[in-house]
Amino acid sequence: MKVADRHYRTIWVGEDGRSVDIIDQRWLPHEFRVVNVGTVDGIATAIRDMWVRGAPLIGVTAAYGVAIQMNDDPSDAALDRVWDHLHETRPTAINLRWALDEMKRVLSPYAPADRATAAWRRAAEIADEDIELNRSIGRHGLEVIRQIAAKKKPGEPVNILTHCNAGWLATVDYGTATAPIYLATEAGIPVHVYVDETRPRNQGAQLTAWEMAGHGVPHTLVVDNAGGHFMQHGMVDMVIVGTDRTTANGDVCNKIGTYLKALAAHDNGVPFYVGLPSPTIDWTVRDGVKEIPIEERSADEVSFVQGKTASGEIAQVRISPENSPGANPAFDVTPARLITGLITERGIAEASPEGLLALFPERARSA
Ligand code: MRU
Repeated sequence: MKVADRHYRTIWVGEDGRSVDIIDQRWLPHEFRVVNVGTVDGIATAIRDMWVRGAPLIGVTAAYGVAIQMNDDPSDAALDRVWDHLHETRPTAINLRWALDEMKRVLSPYAPADRATAAWRRAAEIADEDIELNRSIGRHGLEVIRQIAAKKKPGEPVNILTHCNAGWLATVDYGTATAPIYLATEAGIPVHVYVDETRPRNQGAQLTAWEMAGHGVPHTLVVDNAGGHFMQHGMVDMVIVGTDRTTANGDVCNKIGTYLKALAAHDNGVPFYVGLPSPTIDWTVRDGVKEIPIEERSADEVSFVQGKTASGEIAQVRISPENSPGANPAFDVTPARLITGLITERGIAEASPEGLLALFPERARSA
């Protein structure tokens, strides 16, 4: 998407052809910084410390990490090692494992001498495919927005609530939850987005609000606890979020707090949609609550907030007593029964085994 009139993806191959440039998202919305990463350790740090984040982008970054490894050592042992090293960086987003498995599947048949070229090629394809998946999700989601808009008075916006950042910054481009919003805006359908701030790391306030502002999408930043109130007062027409892992049964794991939004939406008859590219489906898991590993991040993320001071410095400030312990589960699971539809690249699936298999029949044996 455009930033200051230049088109950016979130990750691209560096000038030397052996490294990647990424948008270091830790500094947004205050500073737009691009950094070059050329080692596997650097890739692991960028994923673990959330310089890049969002399930699809984590996967693509890991794929490039494998390519970097293949330049240095393309042996079978190194391929196994880089898989293990990158896989342990973040536990919840299944796209990480998907991308690492895909790289290993494609590279294994090659002789080591040919692996680097094949690895850079496949990583670039995975990045391009991510954009295509998102555009397809956008087209299907656009129809939902169009149907809601058709019931409104002319000019009245479709009010959409979103949680966390499942925007272009969480993917290579377009985003999953945001793709329908961007396409609706391009199609001239008036939309207005309620952006949950998304404590503790504030991906909504820092990233989604920045995206919306940058693309002229009318939006309002709200605290995480406001959504239920807005829904009770008929101010939200639909909720759309992303996902880090969706089970074969249609349970959706996403940023902590998503579950509460789904409960409020269910209680108020507000449709709750999930933008779901197929690499985010974990066909090996059925019960999301019991089986999906939930990342537990540092309690410091709860005790401190980051912002820009009046003197222009980006700083973290403590908001709690020094001796108050915190807990910081990064994700939660929304049961399939609370979900109106899973917007995939192949169409909108009911959140159920049957619904997903109707769109992905080739998975019938693995599911
Ligand atoms: O911890 P993060 O910022 O990586 O979490 C991101 C999310 O939870 C997104 O909603 C999810 O990855 C979907 S991104 C298209």
